[in-house]
Amino acid sequence: MEAPIPHEIMNRMLSGYWSTQALYVAAKLGLADLLIEGPRSIDDLAQATNTHAPSLYRLLRGLASMGVFADVGNARFTLTPLAECLRSDLPGSQRALAIMGGEEHYQAWGELLYSVQTGKTSFDKLYGMPIFEFLSKNIEQAKVFDAAMVGVHGRETTAMTDAYDFSDVKVLADIGGGNGSLLTTVLTKYPHMKGILYDLPGVTERATVSLSAAGLSDRCQVMGGNFFESVPAGADAYLMRHIIHDWDDEKATTILRHVHQVLPSHGRLLVVEGVIPPGNTPCFGKLLDLTMLTLPGGKERTDDEFRTLFKSAGFHLSRIVPTSAEVSIIEGKKQ
Ligand SMILES: C[S@@+](CC[C@H](N)C(=O)[O-])C[C@H]1O[C@@H](n2cnc3c(N)ncnc32)[C@H](O)[C@@H]1O
Repeated sequence: MEAPIPHEIMNRMLSGYWSTQALYVAAKLGLADLLIEGPRSIDDLAQATNTHAPSLYRLLRGLASMGVFADVGNARFTLTPLAECLRSDLPGSQRALAIMGGEEHYQAWGELLYSVQTGKTSFDKLYGMPIFEFLSKNIEQAKVFDAAMVGVHGRETTAMTDAYDFSDVKVLADIGGGNGSLLTTVLTKYPHMKGILYDLPGVTERATVSLSAAGLSDRCQVMGGNFFESVPAGADAYLMRHIIHDWDDEKATTILRHVHQVLPSHGRLLVVEGVIPPGNTPCFGKLLDLTMLTLPGGKERTDDEFRTLFKSAGFHLSRIVPTSAEVSIIEGKKQ
């Protein structure tokens, strides 16, 4: 088969937002959940979702053309492996990610030009406040954000525990630990280990519920606070996954300095993020970087940039451990 010509590739790239919004609408309507028991007719689905049946048919036909749902005849649709990703009842569900992507993220990307022209976050321009403040004031969106983090980063957890040996960590602090899904996996794998989950107070309320449901309340302390003011003492390893990339160098250095203040001399810093490769190498992080530009105001970094950042907070970068996912474990020790 002949390779597509640049014109065709460009057409596909330019219509990227079509799939973002089609997937968003399917996720928002909960269509995948409605098909768990088996195929259903368009009329039935339209009634269940309070939508216009002929238009819902067009949505599902379009999605089926990309392998998401399938028409089994007589305007009846069924799940496919891709559509299963939008079910809300499966571990690692990407339904919340599709919803978040089609709402705040879509809006912020719609103002990418503003961010490129000014270097400022388009999210603040649109919503009048920084994203984490917005989430603290909008509980429904905050719950979607927590779940979306599992959808986008959940697969990284096993990749991290496969690649990195945590066996000599006694107490692991997960700074900005979100809903606790990462700590749940690590503490379950290492029964001797204790944990500290630290995040903004509203987030920790939700994390307390999920850690307790996982039976980890007695091994994991949950603490609410602001990492720009301090981080809790008491751990010998401080892990931050997708935290440092949310912030510019100045703010990231402040967080790392707070870790430095409480880290014992033998302790370690574990930053879990993508490391941007040089040159034109394709890399998810090179576009995720634009999400960081438009939403929180952070950035993805190269290994040299991590080295410099660590140094500015009193750490030396001891090693970068790659994983089978898009992230590496960037380990730091006190200088
Ligand atoms: C991109 S999410 C990453 C969540 C989690 N570490 C993961 O890998 O899924 C960033 C986290 O930082 C938390 N956060 C943001 N600002 C914070 C602050 N000032 N102090 C503490 N946590 C904060 C957010 O609530 C959120 O849970």
